[in-house]
Amino acid sequence: MLENKHPLILGIESSCDETSAALLCGFDVLSHVVYSQLIHQHYGGVVPELASREHETAISRVVDKTFAEAGNISPHNVDAIAVTYGPGLMGALLVGLNFAKGMVVALKKPLIAINHIEAHLYAPFLDFPNLQPPMLCLLVSGGHTLLIDVKGIRDFTILGETLDDAAGESFDKVARLLNIGYPGGPLIDKLSEKGDPNAIRFPRPYLEKESLNFSFSGLKTAVLNYTKTKESFTDQEIADIAAGFQAAVVDVLEEKVRRAVLQTGHKQVILAGGVAANRLLRKRLKNLEKTLDIHLYYPSLKYCTDNAAMIAAAGVLYYEKGWTSGLDVPAVPNLRIYDHSYTG
Ligand code: KG4
Ligand code: ZN
Repeated sequence: MLENKHPLILGIESSCDETSAALLCGFDVLSHVVYSQLIHQHYGGVVPELASREHETAISRVVDKTFAEAGNISPHNVDAIAVTYGPGLMGALLVGLNFAKGMVVALKKPLIAINHIEAHLYAPFLDFPNLQPPMLCLLVSGGHTLLIDVKGIRDFTILGETLDDAAGESFDKVARLLNIGYPGGPLIDKLSEKGDPNAIRFPRPYLEKESLNFSFSGLKTAVLNYTKTKESFTDQEIADIAAGFQAAVVDVLEEKVRRAVLQTGHKQVILAGGVAANRLLRKRLKNLEKTLDIHLYYPSLKYCTDNAAMIAAAGVLYYEKGWTSGLDVPAVPNLRIYDHSYTG
């Protein structure tokens, strides 16, 4: 038996192409298993039907492994089960959500339905357990680009968001244009090392506007138009395009964070979501620490992209506040970060 004042939470994540489970005691990660569905690489993007099928066959194995890796913990010892209920792919969400519902019924434990985007925001807590709001968050993933004024747990104001493509989506689309594979973010990040970011000057979209919103579709079109200027490109030229594109995205993200810090006066800034793994972005935001007198926190790489440890971390915060969900909570593919109407 675990003797600990911190809750023991099982987290389950299946919103897109990662089947994942994690056991946390407070923000201590006891075990964490991520099964990434490689099948989608053949298609250049996630195929929803295949994702659901892969989750269905993987989920019980992933959860069993999570308990096995945590040592002698039995499912009966958990205090609650936290699971992603949106946003994401409907079929994929249903696999994790229904699995969690089955477990809570069998174990007679509370269910905690978690918003996946909100959980990204809490991922830095896994590395910095003493972190406390208020803070500013730049949340950049495959589906979202948000600047959030985080006043407290589940207490947010959106300061800016993308009007079209998300930052991660633009990395993936440009990687597809350059024919370098999927997912594009890590590949462009790596390829950019060999490229000259100043060889091609791509536009810095929406930088001239006062607002804290973003727009990345014009940048993607600028890359597309550039790729049409020649019959073929050398490996060096492809690397230069990748580096030029990445520099444009990072310039915009950095400048909007700078403006948001000046506007809000926040001293703690967190970077979260899959694009938070980008090395140039991490470096450039880290450089803002001195100039703006702020502290920057970003999650370790394994907690940037989709994972169940961040779902369990959100579960810990919710459990401590007594926020649990009914068994009738639905899967909500287009759930917004501030929408709590499904969980009460
Ligand atoms: O948070 P995430 O795993 O899934 C969503 O909730 O969307 O984010 C995935 C996104 C993808 O678009 C991927 O290309 C991007 O994060 N990404 C990166 C890097 N690693 C992942 N983008 C830029 N640089 C990276 N190193
Ligand atoms: Zn995500």
